[in-house]
Amino acid sequence: MAKITVVGAGNVGATCANVLAFNEVADEVVLLDIKEGVSEGKALDMMQTATLLGFDSKVNGVTNDYTKTAGSDVVVITSGIPRKPGMTREELIGVNAGIVKSVVDNVLAHSPNAIIVCVSNPMDTMTYLIQKTTGLPKNRVIGMGGALDSSRFKCYLSKALNANPNEIEGVVIGGHGDTTMIPLTRLATYKGIPASELLDKETLAKVAADTMVGGATLTKLLGTSAWYAPGAAAAYVVESIIRDQKKIVSCSVYLEGEYGESDICIGVPVVLGRTGWEKVVDFKLNDEEKALFKASAEAVRKTNAALNL
Ligand code: NAI
Ligand code: 2OP
Repeated sequence: MAKITVVGAGNVGATCANVLAFNEVADEVVLLDIKEGVSEGKALDMMQTATLLGFDSKVNGVTNDYTKTAGSDVVVITSGIPRKPGMTREELIGVNAGIVKSVVDNVLAHSPNAIIVCVSNPMDTMTYLIQKTTGLPKNRVIGMGGALDSSRFKCYLSKALNANPNEIEGVVIGGHGDTTMIPLTRLATYKGIPASELLDKETLAKVAADTMVGGATLTKLLGTSAWYAPGAAAAYVVESIIRDQKKIVSCSVYLEGEYGESDICIGVPVVLGRTGWEKVVDFKLNDEEKALFKASAEAVRKTNAALNL
């Protein structure tokens, strides 16, 4: 019996709830938003796909009623404003910090044992805010960004290689920002063959560059930020936790010396299981990658400073 709450029934939250229900990751998915009726409407719409798609999960929509979220195993936070064309994720900090803080307080009042998955941007800083202000055990606070960025990386790699994306391995670490994320091209593989042996340097560099601005490219096309892959990526993280799949996923977590950093939430590969993130996996970065990671952490710290914690 698993229960998952998704806060924010906008583009990303609703997509995440939809994927969770379709994949029957939980018996119950609660979708909560402050906009009167929106969660109820989207949940009902999803439930009307149950007989078409053949799933048994229940989706319940509520307007700001946290009593209905009680006893959730995992809570996904997507509430907040998204990027508009030309905006960075970092520019969302003022509004979203207030929303995320009040939402997490409400969530924990009713689900004190929940694992929190933060999606709201700037995600690394929002995850840090949650970690610092709640004092939760660090394994229960997880920022989703690397799952999405890695998926975009594999998508661009598959196009360059003209290959099935599911046969490609690729991981993006570092901050979830256009200039802070680090697609690890050296470690990307196609069926075990290093991508660097199959693609020339320029092509691989273009794949990395396209990945880094992957979110901005979509924001420009859509007029707001993307939701299918972000919602699915959040659901992927939740599924690995609920089903104790022990998948290695790049997530923003609180570091205490791993990858040379402390007192920061930033994307690193972690094992996801029933207790949240269970351990950080050391990818043994080379000197160039280490320098990129250090610069990324410095940029995330600059954004964190705006929280005035
Ligand atoms: P959206 O505007 O479609 O949905 C946000 C929802 O949050 C709205 O329905 C709004 O009513 C709700 N909301 C606002 N304040 C609330 C509160 N106090 N309590 C409950 N609900 C509240 O935005 P979208 O596209 O779903 O994006 C959501 C967030 O996720 C944004 O901050 C966006 O930047 C971020 N994002 C993060 C990604 C990641 O990889 N970490 C990827 C894509 C988006
Ligand atoms: C994305 O990467 C804006 O974080 C959002 O699509």
